[in-house]
Amino acid sequence: MTTTKPSSAIPNFRSLGLAERRRLLAEICSLDEAELGETLGDGGLLSPGADKMIENAIGTLALPFGVALNFQINGGDYLVPMAIEEPSVIAAASNAAKRVRAGGGFRAEADEPLMAAQIEVHHVADPRRATEAILEARDELIATANKVVPGIVERGGGAKDVGVRDLGDGFVVTHVTVNVCDAMGANLVNTVAEALGNRIAELASGQLGLRILSNYCDRRLVRVSCRVPVESFSCSRASGREAALGVVSASRFAERDPYRAVTHNKGIMNGADAVVIATGNDWRATEAAAHAYAAKDGKYGPLATWRLIEDDEILEGRIEMPMALGTVGGALRAHRGAQLALRLVGARSAAELGMVVAAAGLATNLSALRALATEGIQRGHMALHHRALKGS
Ligand code: MEV
Repeated sequence: MTTTKPSSAIPNFRSLGLAERRRLLAEICSLDEAELGETLGDGGLLSPGADKMIENAIGTLALPFGVALNFQINGGDYLVPMAIEEPSVIAAASNAAKRVRAGGGFRAEADEPLMAAQIEVHHVADPRRATEAILEARDELIATANKVVPGIVERGGGAKDVGVRDLGDGFVVTHVTVNVCDAMGANLVNTVAEALGNRIAELASGQLGLRILSNYCDRRLVRVSCRVPVESFSCSRASGREAALGVVSASRFAERDPYRAVTHNKGIMNGADAVVIATGNDWRATEAAAHAYAAKDGKYGPLATWRLIEDDEILEGRIEMPMALGTVGGALRAHRGAQLALRLVGARSAAELGMVVAAAGLATNLSALRALATEGIQRGHMALHHRALKGS
């Protein structure tokens, strides 16, 4: 990732007026101020555009669009675009990112962009023989798959592997792993699934069922960690050490209790979804995969955890979650607001965007836990709600 981007720590950004914020951002990001204002003025999507995107369109529905500040990931600065209706999330993300920045910023890595096409066959009399036949045809199946997605093959992606799972009761499901590069991948993977369906049913001697991607992209994970110096973690009601211990205790609570883990993860998705939505990505897919991953060990748990390390001087947070995002295709084709969001964040690949999304989730999680463990959520949160209600 680059280190030559403009700093994402912009002093007094919040105290500026909306027009002034736009002007400053345009300057910092070398964007055309008029274009920025025009794009954001109409929410980035006009009704004719909406009419082309969905059926029975009657208009568009706007969401507040802002940027979270202070994010540093793998040494590079990121202005993080967020579309969200909930007050306090952007402030919480920016505040946590500032504390993380003091500890060296977020460290992040992403897996290869591998998605799975599922081809389900039922009424299979001999699943063992079916499995063997499908695996023996691996090269043929990969070649057939790659013929229907030549564009992605040209970019170094395409079908890479074939696996078979016997689900019992005559259900045999074939997984074709596809490298989707910088696409979210649903269309590509569905094309592959449909192209292979008949041949796989023939090989399995069964009845062809569903052919569709799995949104459970557990081979397309992103991992982000951060270190916050405990001494700088104090607030008006708690010392740094007390606040950090409170965050760790809150993490351990979520690790033990699914009822709490769901709310803990909701706080993560506050930040994560806001970026996913701003960049025109499929947040239902992100949500579905995140919660499935949270239950991967057979019990629903937190996606992010917190511990004290280095003689209790550092609060360390870690998040790991599946991330199927696109920086090409999908809504980005038509949505000027999403295109602008992508330019603001400056992510040059889907993997890079995924790291930003997970870092945003880790940041909002940290702020929520810190507030909950010290002064309670209502004081800060409700102050911002009241500000919103008063329309100030
Ligand atoms: C509110 O949108 C999110 C929180 O409930 C998250 C949490 O409890 O960790 C504050």
